[in-house]
Amino acid sequence: MAPECIVLVGLSGSGKSTVGPLVARRLGWAFTDTDALIEQAAGRSIPELFAEEGEARFREREQAALRDAIARHRTVVSTGGGAPTTPGGRAELAQGFTVWLVVSPARAAARLAENPATPDRPLLAGDALGRLESQLDARRRWYELADAAVDVDYLSPEQAADEIVRLWAESRGHAPRFGHENAARGAWHVAATVQTPGATYPIVVEPGVLDQLGSVCRETGLTGRAFVVTDTGVGPLFGQRAMTALAAGDFETARFEIPAGEEQKTMATVGRVHDWLLGQRVERSDFVVCVGGGVVTDLAGFAAATTLRGIDFVHVPTTLLGMVDASVGGKTGVDHAMGKNLIGAFAQPRAVVIDPEVLKTLPERQRRAGWAEVVKHGLILDPRLVEDLEKGATDPLAMLSPELIGRSVAIKAEVVSEDEKEAGRRTLLNYGHTIGHAIEAVTGYSAYLHGEAVAVGMHAAGRISVAMGLLSAEELERQQRLITAYGLPDRAPGLDPAEVIAATASDKKVRSGRIKWVLLEGIGRAATRNDVPDEVVREALAGILG
Ligand SMILES: NC(=O)c1ccc[n+]([C@@H]2O[C@H](COP(=O)([O-])OP(=O)(O)OC[C@H]3O[C@@H](n4cnc5c(N)ncnc54)[C@H](O)[C@@H]3O)[C@@H](O)[C@H]2O)c1
Ligand SMILES: [Zn+2]
Repeated sequence: MAPECIVLVGLSGSGKSTVGPLVARRLGWAFTDTDALIEQAAGRSIPELFAEEGEARFREREQAALRDAIARHRTVVSTGGGAPTTPGGRAELAQGFTVWLVVSPARAAARLAENPATPDRPLLAGDALGRLESQLDARRRWYELADAAVDVDYLSPEQAADEIVRLWAESRGHAPRFGHENAARGAWHVAATVQTPGATYPIVVEPGVLDQLGSVCRETGLTGRAFVVTDTGVGPLFGQRAMTALAAGDFETARFEIPAGEEQKTMATVGRVHDWLLGQRVERSDFVVCVGGGVVTDLAGFAAATTLRGIDFVHVPTTLLGMVDASVGGKTGVDHAMGKNLIGAFAQPRAVVIDPEVLKTLPERQRRAGWAEVVKHGLILDPRLVEDLEKGATDPLAMLSPELIGRSVAIKAEVVSEDEKEAGRRTLLNYGHTIGHAIEAVTGYSAYLHGEAVAVGMHAAGRISVAMGLLSAEELERQQRLITAYGLPDRAPGLDPAEVIAATASDKKVRSGRIKWVLLEGIGRAATRNDVPDEVVREALAGILG
């Protein structure tokens, strides 16, 4: 897969370093400025480097910085204006999705003059306008090689960022239908788009967006009545706000509460939701709004998917686990006496609406458990997310960061878009889950929250990865430091390893008797193996359970 990377090129003063971070925020990506990378690596400023080493050597440094920046996944890169002028620079740029910010020299000169914070630009010394004009003449043919161009003379940075996101989505074949007028007004932020063979839908992550639920639903194209399903834990906190917001979007509304708790996630409760919906004479054009944690989104999503052979639904997850995991990917369903999540259907929502502010009322333990899935997303696929989580671990406010939630959700969205039915890549999301599920099962789903069990399971899977020669001991230590920094357990003392191993056999991920283990080959790189000897598993579990 080509790196997911947007590279901004254009003259100084075109706004690359202003617009870049806005694009990154809209996509839930990181932002990198190659000039900053070069200065960091060299320990000197750009003008100094130019003066001391000359332009040719600077371009070499720039190519190395570009290569480094573009290789990072999900990054928006702002480049120096001369980056495309050398064959080496162009070869690097060709790896990303390049966007030329087209600015007139006059406008660029005016912007540079307006902005006293602009760092020295060695090639602009003296008559800025004249030099920008000759630079544009010389570079135009290189800039024109970009994958897309945005004329920024009359756009605000926000508008330019929206346009770039639209062009990017278009280049990926995503229907960029959603949210752009609203995004342009700064109303809300689409962190990711899920695209499966049957559905395309946005995941909105925006503090306070709960109060705009009605507009989001309108924008999504929903028209009928809105049937809110929530639980007795969430209803009293957010039920009324959701109803008011839907009414403000001109929807007729009704509301139903199920009792909170995993033990309610049964066909009996689904039956009650069916009874209610049918009693209200629900029609095919109506939709269900699932407001709550994973129990509500799984159950009410399934109820919607099975009412009148399937009506639309929107997820409004209110737990961290629900936001970064349960609400994305279209697995809906309930538990059966024979096991968890055994009854269900794939059904994709029309939108996922995430308001990180609702996490303020979530009990601390629930919040921590949710972080296990965020950490997991980094460990399996995104080394940069791991780095950011390591930095954020000391900052309790980062815990509600829309950016981290957005990036985590974007990883899940990407994986399920590629592999909706878990035929391949989606399996990677089960890192830590083979042992995690087994721990939950042997403890009767009471002693450990799902995320806690997964945290212990990741420790076990990490150890197996080391024993299989895939992961270094230092990398495992790094994983464990991160897991404990987020307040998650690394052991489950008092459990019988033999019993836990026996329970892994009933995990759904077992294929013809052999367990398909998700292991790490490095931080941010997962792989599957079905040749892990029982002995290795027993040894890995030795210090963790028992
Ligand atoms: N479909 C999927 O892909 C998927 C993925 C992971 C998990 N799940 C499912 O998710 C379920 C677990 O979800 P969960 O951890 O969100 O638990 P949950 O839905 O049971 O919610 C936990 C508790 O927190 C309360 N609550 C929710 N939001 C709150 C808030 N903002 N403030 C205060 N209290 C709040 C709820 O009322 C509930 O009592 C499991 O059934 C699991 O199978 C599904
Ligand atoms: Zn999980």
